[in-house]
Amino acid sequence: MNGSCSSAPSAQRLAGKVAIVTGGASGFGESTVRLFHKHGAKVVIADVQDDLGLSIFKDLGSHENVTYVHCDVTSDSDVKNAVDAAISKYGKLDIMFNNAGISGNLDFTIVTADNENFKRVFEVNVYGAFLGAKHAARVMIPAKKGVILFTSSLAAVVSGESPHSYTASKYAVVGLTKNLCAELGQYGIRVNCISPCAVPTPLLTNAMGIEKSKLEELLCAAANLKGTVQTAEDVAEAALYLGSDESKYVSGMNLVVDGGYSTTNQSFRAMLKNLTS
Ligand SMILES: NC(=O)c1ccc[n+]([C@@H]2O[C@H](COP(=O)([O-])OP(=O)(O)OC[C@H]3O[C@@H](n4cnc5c(N)ncnc54)[C@H](O)[C@@H]3O)[C@@H](O)[C@H]2O)c1
Repeated sequence: MNGSCSSAPSAQRLAGKVAIVTGGASGFGESTVRLFHKHGAKVVIADVQDDLGLSIFKDLGSHENVTYVHCDVTSDSDVKNAVDAAISKYGKLDIMFNNAGISGNLDFTIVTADNENFKRVFEVNVYGAFLGAKHAARVMIPAKKGVILFTSSLAAVVSGESPHSYTASKYAVVGLTKNLCAELGQYGIRVNCISPCAVPTPLLTNAMGIEKSKLEELLCAAANLKGTVQTAEDVAEAALYLGSDESKYVSGMNLVVDGGYSTTNQSFRAMLKNLTS
């Protein structure tokens, strides 16, 4: 064996694959739909924002390779329908990206935290991801292959910077990833999740009530990695890697896409900066 066995990635890294992207009408989901489509995948956009989903569908042009389905991830029948749509239209499902999510209220104080908000965040972020995995596994197990992906969050790596409901829901997504990896490996199914840092998608700008450009400025100032800005495309690139055969032996991983933010202690760094300035 020599050390030169690596091959250059093909231009279309998902040629022939079929993917469903939940939350595919906006933010990370939209970027992933566009990138997967560019790389030759047949993509089912599954979302509740029909106007946005359909406008991406129209924009992508080659309609035999793109489908939009209305899918509320908290509805078992909607998720079943999205998976069945992929099977009936394209004959199989290779990649299920359980990405839909909500921020919930910016409820940082446990004593006054809103109970209904907590339940709703879990319903979308955890139960929705669970349903996506369940219906994907239903068709992937007989096929003895497939990739299940989730979007978790930096909130599942660095504590105290997001509300309790959101943080707990994203830890649960990592737990689901690892447990499913253990169950589904025997069927050749890989299960991974992506934990992005803060990106000014509608989820974040709406939650924080700050306009996109101002939020971008604040996030750049707080970032560990300078000279670049995290975008939704960075998350899509991570999904492309994890969805493609280039990651064929990667399973049970939480891929943190944060420019190294979580490896540093921000408050300690700020204290040192104050001491030396
Ligand atoms: N933006 C960030 O800073 C950030 C950071 C880490 C993780 N995340 C996670 O990334 C994922 C995508 O979020 P985004 O930032 O792209 O936000 P976004 O609001 O742009 O996109 C989320 C999409 O999910 C859809 N959605 C919400 N509830 C749904 C439901 N019940 N059924 C189907 N679709 C539903 C929305 O309609 C929307 O299109 C979420 O899971 C979010 O928690 C976001």
